[in-house]
Amino acid sequence: MTSQELRQKYLDFFRAKGHTIIPSASLIPENDPTVLFTTAGMHPLVPCLLGEEHPCGKRLTSCQKCIRTGDIDEVGDDVHLTFFEMLGNWSLGDYWKKEAISWSFEFLTKELGLPIEKLAVTCFEGEEKNNIEQDNESAKLWQEQGIQKERIVFLGRDDNWWGPAGLTGPCGPDTEMFYWVGEEPAPKVFDPKDKRWVEIWNDVFMQYSKTADGKFEPLKQRNVDTGMGLERTLAVLNGYDNVFAIQEFEPIISKIKELAVKPNEKAIRIIADHIKAAVFIMGDSHGISPSNVGQGYVVRRLIRETIERGKLIGVKDGLVVPVAEIIISIFKNIYSELQKNSDFIIDELIIEEKKYNKAITEGLPEVRRLYDFYRTLGEIKLVGGKDFFNLYQTHGLRFQLIFEEWDRLCQTFKTPNLSLINRKEEIASEYSNELKKHQKSSQTASVGMFKGGLADNSEIVVKYHTATHLLHQALRQVLGEHVAQKGSNINAERLRFDFSHPAKMTAEEIAQVEKIVNEKIKADVPVHFEMLSVDEAKQKGAIGLFEDKYVKLGNQVKVYFVGDPSVDSGQAYSAEICGGPHVEHTGQIGSFKIIKEEAVAAGIRRLKAVVGK
Ligand code: SER
Repeated sequence: MTSQELRQKYLDFFRAKGHTIIPSASLIPENDPTVLFTTAGMHPLVPCLLGEEHPCGKRLTSCQKCIRTGDIDEVGDDVHLTFFEMLGNWSLGDYWKKEAISWSFEFLTKELGLPIEKLAVTCFEGEEKNNIEQDNESAKLWQEQGIQKERIVFLGRDDNWWGPAGLTGPCGPDTEMFYWVGEEPAPKVFDPKDKRWVEIWNDVFMQYSKTADGKFEPLKQRNVDTGMGLERTLAVLNGYDNVFAIQEFEPIISKIKELAVKPNEKAIRIIADHIKAAVFIMGDSHGISPSNVGQGYVVRRLIRETIERGKLIGVKDGLVVPVAEIIISIFKNIYSELQKNSDFIIDELIIEEKKYNKAITEGLPEVRRLYDFYRTLGEIKLVGGKDFFNLYQTHGLRFQLIFEEWDRLCQTFKTPNLSLINRKEEIASEYSNELKKHQKSSQTASVGMFKGGLADNSEIVVKYHTATHLLHQALRQVLGEHVAQKGSNINAERLRFDFSHPAKMTAEEIAQVEKIVNEKIKADVPVHFEMLSVDEAKQKGAIGLFEDKYVKLGNQVKVYFVGDPSVDSGQAYSAEICGGPHVEHTGQIGSFKIIKEEAVAAGIRRLKAVVGK
């Protein structure tokens, strides 16, 4: 079975059961500032699971693009992927366990033709402390479908509970379906620890909401949320022992093999996974570029690791672009945004590959210098994670690369006494402490949201944050109040701001916006923030992402004001919901210049601007 067949079968099946097929939402969550990426099909539907009406009704089905970075270090094994597609069907306060389970069973056995002898399920065992009962109802429904009692196992929260996707929100117990992939007949009694039972689908019964103080309150409606990982299910259905064996990966992997001088299976898998994830994040309707913050940091990490792995298997230059081109051509018919953004994706990849090659060229001699320094000292105990972190910070070299280079130097110069192989864990932990310290001093919204992340809180980036607020307000002043932020991306070199506006900006309009921003900078206006309720923020004229109302800290939003704090902040020049950080006085920005104006999509313009002395 091909992925196209599985997608189609799934969506058609649920359409026939009264579901509306909805398109995949963006990979960049629009309503949830607590996570970087959409991690499941239910994620964009959170408001509707909480009771908001969905324009397409109470029964929905989709194939959702997802990114999960939590297990990124596991990629290369048989099952983990950073980017994957998730098939799902939802009941928003409509049908409940009976329909969900019977349809899951019907789809697996009739549509996919899986024999009941190879199926088993788990159900939630209950939890006294939160007053949640064992899910006997689901177990009984499975038995009614013909699943034997011995094939039903009850497990706890670690296995049979899902959500919330962010810190708070809808969640509930689930029932999970397993398929036997062993060569011998499936054992009568189901043992979920036996790896030959592979999980292929789960039905989550979302009936609780986790509150900010960790309690589980019943939702006002009972929802069903199901999720089937497309790649994993396809691999199982086709009898493959790993997700990289599915048809869609074939041309990607052959291309990498063609470019490699000494192919290595694991490296090839990582490269295929990472370029695919980077292409989908950059090609998203929100178009993320590699950077040191938020989603951009993840893209950077994916590309940089790819380049390093590429070097290990002997690829000289130009690994990323040819592979990305193949990925775009495979998926452009299903995800048209990839085609639309292909120039952007390829341009950004070329720039990032160049940058990292430069970082490596300049950074590796620094590793050598560090090595020579300690070699002269002859006192290996002294080299530590802090040294490695400094190299990361100044040259952008990733930990693994520094480590491997150090090891290579030890072998070349035959200095086993300097080897760090046995101290890897210790060094890595010192390194990550340094990283955490650095993150602590940073207040950007992306801190701690993903493993290994590094938020950029440098002086220059902070200036850009405030300049963006001034720009947003000046645009509203010059072009009109219809201007609303559609996206923003900042790195140490420039700011990028996407906003709604129907026409190309004229040279006069650009000059006027620049002039206003520079006047505000010159006036050296103070910047401060207040924690406000959504209503108060609105009263004070705050702009920004009010849709974030579903997931916020307590009931408050943080609003940054550019204006005299001794006067009512409702009078401030700019008021915008934002996590910060910002400069204290606009004068710190120095000066402001727009360097580019262009279209990104119908009705959406993009500005790039720089700040200076
Ligand atoms: N939310 C569940 C999952 O991600 C089902 O969609 O697996």
